[in-house]
Amino acid sequence: VREFELTFRPGGGISCPVRIGSGALARLVDDLRREYVARPLVLISDDNVTPLHAEGLAGNLRASGMTVHLLEFPSGEAHKTRETKAGLEDRLLALAVGRDAVVLAVGGGVTGDLAGFVAATWHRGLPLIQVPTSLVAMVDASIGGKTGVDLPSAKNQIGAFHQPRGIYADVTVLQTLPEPYYRHGFAEVVKTAAVADRDFFAWLESRAGELLDREAAELEETVGRCAALKGAVVEADEREAGRRAVLNFGHTAGHALEAASGFTMTHGQAVSVGMVEEGRLAAEDTGFPQEDLERLRRLLVSFGLPVAAPPGIDPGAVRKALLADKKNRGGKVRYAPPVRIGEMIGGEDVTVDLDPARVFIDISQGPV
Ligand SMILES: NC(=O)c1ccc[n+]([C@@H]2O[C@H](COP(=O)([O-])OP(=O)(O)OC[C@H]3O[C@@H](n4cnc5c(N)ncnc54)[C@H](O)[C@@H]3O)[C@@H](O)[C@H]2O)c1
Repeated sequence: VREFELTFRPGGGISCPVRIGSGALARLVDDLRREYVARPLVLISDDNVTPLHAEGLAGNLRASGMTVHLLEFPSGEAHKTRETKAGLEDRLLALAVGRDAVVLAVGGGVTGDLAGFVAATWHRGLPLIQVPTSLVAMVDASIGGKTGVDLPSAKNQIGAFHQPRGIYADVTVLQTLPEPYYRHGFAEVVKTAAVADRDFFAWLESRAGELLDREAAELEETVGRCAALKGAVVEADEREAGRRAVLNFGHTAGHALEAASGFTMTHGQAVSVGMVEEGRLAAEDTGFPQEDLERLRRLLVSFGLPVAAPPGIDPGAVRKALLADKKNRGGKVRYAPPVRIGEMIGGEDVTVDLDPARVFIDISQGPV
């Protein structure tokens, strides 16, 4: 098990132990018994992950003498809503869960965001432990403190920053993750390497086969590197006032494409195409080398990810989605271009203005 600590709000002191690898769940039981022995634990998980992993964890925690409530909700992004949150809160009320409780989010990114938001607001904030079980949750969603739910018209519209008090990623649970979710998770892995670590990018190029076979050693390395890289970015800029925006590489074009596809593309697929598109734009804006763009494209393809927009996307819908992006400032569309693989623009302002007419020119024959 790899271990390191993340610290948020230096001085204000939130310390978050991160444990990654086969055996991290056993460490979780030990750590909880030591830190929170007399406190009730509320495990929140979806109906896929509950029988596969959450029930076993709850059993181990009970066997070590702890009080455990296991709350289940229906899986899927469609249930990351205010209604699901309200339902969970009704259960907390019925169970008389007080301010001494600790919330564990056991699942993918949907569970982490939803259970994290419940933890952020129940009694104005309970300690939260992230137990990510999908690749996206391990390398991205469980780190950084963003929690929330969707509105029908907009993803992640309501939420709060609520930093976890621990992140426990046991890569053995990835064996049960369905193949499409597993593959699409590599979009965020490639992104993390592309914005922060050229050596890690080269390592991924050499280990794509082992990773697709879900080899534990390679997975531990991948999750460990991504968590540490994202953790360092977030420690330095928790509220995305500056450099945290490097993590948005691929996401300006990607989000617009995801929306324009009517969400038939997954987030990972859309971000994959978005990175290639933003890499092409970056070649013009920062001199991002053609050779690096080619390596980016090849690595994404080797993980089975798309690198071009599918046919039939409406250019007007892409444009509309770009203009509606939450990340826009002063009505201007912005994106975070790389300078080369592993390196972004220096300083605090890592984004540049982007004229929507330049995006996806090959599918954008419609009026601007
Ligand atoms: N907070 C953040 O910073 C952040 C960052 C990235 C993504 N996200 C959010 O994360 C969500 C996407 O994450 P996701 O892809 O993990 O979605 P998800 O939670 O829906 O998980 C994907 C599917 O895999 C299942 N699953 C998860 N772990 C499993 C396992 N070990 N075995 C079998 N099945 C398993 C889930 O039940 C679900 O059906 C989005 O809502 C996104 O907004 C948040």
